[in-house]
Amino acid sequence: MSQQQIGIARAHANIALIKYWGKRNDELFLPLTSSLSLTLDAFYTDTKITFSENFTESSFFLDGQKMPPQEVQKLQRFVNLFEPLVGQLPHFQVESYNHVPTAAGLASSSSAFSALACAIHDALNLDLDSQTLSTYARQGSGSATRSLFGGFVEWEKGQDDDGPSSFARPIDDACHWDIAMLVVVVNEQEKHLSSREGMAHTRDTSPFYHLWPEEVAKDLAIIKEAIAEKDFQKLGEVAEHNAMKMHATMLSANPSFTYFEPATMNAMNAVRQLRDEGFLAYITMDAGPNVKIICKNSQVETIHERLLQEYSPEQLIIARPGPAPRKLSEEEFHDQ
Ligand code: DP6
Repeated sequence: MSQQQIGIARAHANIALIKYWGKRNDELFLPLTSSLSLTLDAFYTDTKITFSENFTESSFFLDGQKMPPQEVQKLQRFVNLFEPLVGQLPHFQVESYNHVPTAAGLASSSSAFSALACAIHDALNLDLDSQTLSTYARQGSGSATRSLFGGFVEWEKGQDDDGPSSFARPIDDACHWDIAMLVVVVNEQEKHLSSREGMAHTRDTSPFYHLWPEEVAKDLAIIKEAIAEKDFQKLGEVAEHNAMKMHATMLSANPSFTYFEPATMNAMNAVRQLRDEGFLAYITMDAGPNVKIICKNSQVETIHERLLQEYSPEQLIIARPGPAPRKLSEEEFHDQ
């Protein structure tokens, strides 16, 4: 390897419409079900990796802050995944910037590991296709698998303990879809229980968990039909139902837990009220208290106006379908 190798990439976060909630192999990040997401334009991570024989240790800077050794360790583990392709790698420096609109508390591992995978790919001059690269991103964080493509993306669960069979594939770039996501930030604090811990605990203790894979299989078939037919209502209804079923498995875990907060319930009621008034607006939620409203792009401004009666502008973020990752130049990267 030459003295210094640099790669820079931008990857967008995705929000699952049909959720991933449980692994069959924790080591390889192999999921128990397939899942399907929408990549978003408003949330992304820019990452630069530099490999150099001159570094005496590896380091990681997030939004300009030096991160502690255990965070560097996580990245080291991820970087090591590429060694079978190129041989032993020298120490690295990773610099990442999370672009998440003010105080959203939505920093996402999906864009983080997707951007890192792409930056490493660029630095090492590899020639992997996006599908293969998604199997690497997966081993940083499951949801990162789906951020290797724009628009609607499916993450296939794959077979048995076969890592390469569990990858992402694009379903529809969503360019011709009248769709947006309005995030209602009800609490910007860090979540107290990570999705990784929450899904393992649910899988291991909920007596209802065995129903989850069956429900996901049904919901995936429905949402793929909805995408093919451009049927917004069908897509919204199945996405909301899937998210609620995921959260229901948590209530039935032992001990039980939930990401819902009182303010979450209020936001959910606001969405139901909008629906009663004829808006096509549906709820999805992840491992935190914030509510994401799936709505039509042509109605999102009106819905935003309405919600401003109850929420501050900082609490409401509009996102639209986002693109696949791309390479960044040094200038673009430093222009943060
Ligand atoms: C609720 O991808 O964060 O957002 O694979 O353990 O890193 P790890 O978990 P992560 O889990 C995401 C869970 C979810 C649903 C989803 O994105 O599909």
